[in-house]
Parts: sequence; C-alpha cells; structure tokens
Amino acid sequence: MPESSFDLDAVREEIIATSLATEEEIEAFRVRFLGRKAGLIRQLFAGVSSVAPEQRGAYGQSVNQLKNLVEERLAEAQSRDGATAGMGSDLDLTLPGRKPPMGSVHPISQTLSAMKEVFRQFGFEIAEGPELEDDWHNFTALNFPPDHPARDMQDTLFVRLGDEEKDATLMRTHTSPGQIRVMEKQKPPIRVIVPGRVYRNESLSYKSFCLFHQVEGLYVDEGVTFAELKQLLHLFAKAMFGEDVRMRFRPSFFPFTEPSAEVDIWWANPDGSGKWLEILGCGMVDPNVLKAVDIDPERYTGYAFGMGVERIALLRHNIEDIRLLYENDIRFLEQF
Ligand code: PHE
Repeated sequence: MPESSFDLDAVREEIIATSLATEEEIEAFRVRFLGRKAGLIRQLFAGVSSVAPEQRGAYGQSVNQLKNLVEERLAEAQSRDGATAGMGSDLDLTLPGRKPPMGSVHPISQTLSAMKEVFRQFGFEIAEGPELEDDWHNFTALNFPPDHPARDMQDTLFVRLGDEEKDATLMRTHTSPGQIRVMEKQKPPIRVIVPGRVYRNESLSYKSFCLFHQVEGLYVDEGVTFAELKQLLHLFAKAMFGEDVRMRFRPSFFPFTEPSAEVDIWWANPDGSGKWLEILGCGMVDPNVLKAVDIDPERYTGYAFGMGVERIALLRHNIEDIRLLYENDIRFLEQF
C-alpha cells in the first residue's frame, strides 16, 4: 500500500496544495480523499490497527483533522464554483441595477401644488375645512336665503336630512364654507386660500365631474378693491398658463359676492380654433356674509374667488376630458 508509511504531514501538504480551480480538479480531489472504496482518509482510518496502541488516540485525532481539512477545502471550492456557475457571457454583473417601478404625482396634485405655490408667493396662508358640511356654512352664512333657487345652482348631495332644512348635513358643494370657518375664528386682515375636494350631484361631461377640487381664496381688510382682485387673477393666470394667456372676466351672480364675475381661459386648438373654459367664480364679499361672521362691513371689504383645479389641469396639459383624471388608467397617468 503506497500510503502505508502514514506520513500524515505529507498528506496534509497534499490536501493544502492541491489545486481546486476547475470542476474536474474538485471531483478528483474528492475521490482521492473521500472516495468510498479507496479514499485516502478511509485508508488512514483503517491503518489505525498498525499503529502502536498508546499512539492510536493521537493518530485518530490527526486523521480526523485531515478529514475536516479536506471537507473545508471541498466546501469552499464548491461554493465558489456554484457562485460562478452560469456566469456565461450573457450575464454582465457590471450592469447598473434595475430601478423598482415608481409612480408619478397625479396631475391634479401637480396642478394643486403649482397653484398653492403661486398664492404662497402672494402672501396667502392655507386653511382647510371639512368635506362633510352643515347647511349654515355651505349655504346660510353665505347669504343663500332659505328656499332660494340659488341653492339649486349646485346640486347638493345630502348625507342626512334633519327635520329642518338648517340641520342638513351635506357634502360641501364648494370650498366657500371655508371662508366662513376662517372668518369665524380670525378677524381681518385675512388672506387665505382653502384648497379641497367638493361634491356635486351634477350631470357628467368632459368638463364636469361629481367630485372635483377647488381652491378658495379670501382677502379681507380695510379698503380691498375689485381692481386688486382683477390684478391678482391676471398674475395668477400668467403664472399658470404663460404670459400670452387669453382670459376674460364675465359678469355673474353668486349670493355671497357683489359684484360677481367668472373668469374664462381660451383653450386653443392647434388649428387656431378653440373655446372658452370657465375656471373660477369671484367677486367682492357680500356685506351680509361679513355680518354673518361679525365683521363690520362698514369698515372692511374683501374679495373672494373659487377656482376649479381640474379645469386648470385640463388647460395646462391639454387633457380633453375631466373624467380621465378619475379613471386612474396607468397609461394615462404615466404621461405626467
Ligand atoms: N363657490 C363658487 C362656486 O363654487 C365660486 C366662488 C367662490 C364665487 C368665491 C365667488 C366667490 O361656483
């Protein structure tokens, strides 16, 4: 037997020195040392009988260590081999990683942020009110007389009808109740916007949806004029739609403003045709509204406006139907 010399040091040398660079070398190494029939480790264990009895313990331990060493080298070589397996020419580990898919900010949110930023620059603070409103804030304090047809201007979604009309709970039909809530708590000078979602039981079309967003604006102080309101809205329109925006003021009616106006923006087609799209209502705060919140209308005047965020988004991005904003079709949304 060639290993009968049992030169354990030489065996150790061999274990350490054998190259395990290729699959074939690894397999040959395994067979040589751990082979079932003629593996060297097995032979070394078998050779214990020819060792002097008092040295058998130490001998057994040494062979065990050699066996562990073989197994360690094998495990290491095999895991290295496994990691590089499949590393053919089609796998390039230097490629940059793939980004996890990320959503984009919804066009309504983008437009709302842009609007808030414009008003922030004009010194407006931001206030918020509840979407579930009562009749007082949504109508009565805003100078809608009881049973007045003006209440039908905005088809209201009632949540629960109290016994009396004034107890009604409703989804707010506009952000104007936000004006009332601000003026109940704060006295002039007041300069706020109230952004939020509003609800109407409305017939749907390319420009009207049953829920949408408004940005209410309110400025109350001594000597506030309609001219200032017009100037602000001009500057706003330029900031939102560019210097060459075409806008017009149209006389209108709201119970809570006098005089009142609506603003339209020209929506141009590439061929030069186009149409006007209303984006807001506005006016000078009606003295009755100031009285309802204990602000002296002899001393203070104010202007107010309420803008439709979706309409402004349609114009900014040339989206032809408001309902697209509510379908959440990713093919539509990922364009923004
Ligand atoms: N609240 C009105 C609407 O929703 C808009 C408006 C706000 C008009 C403030 C005048 C003043 O149609």
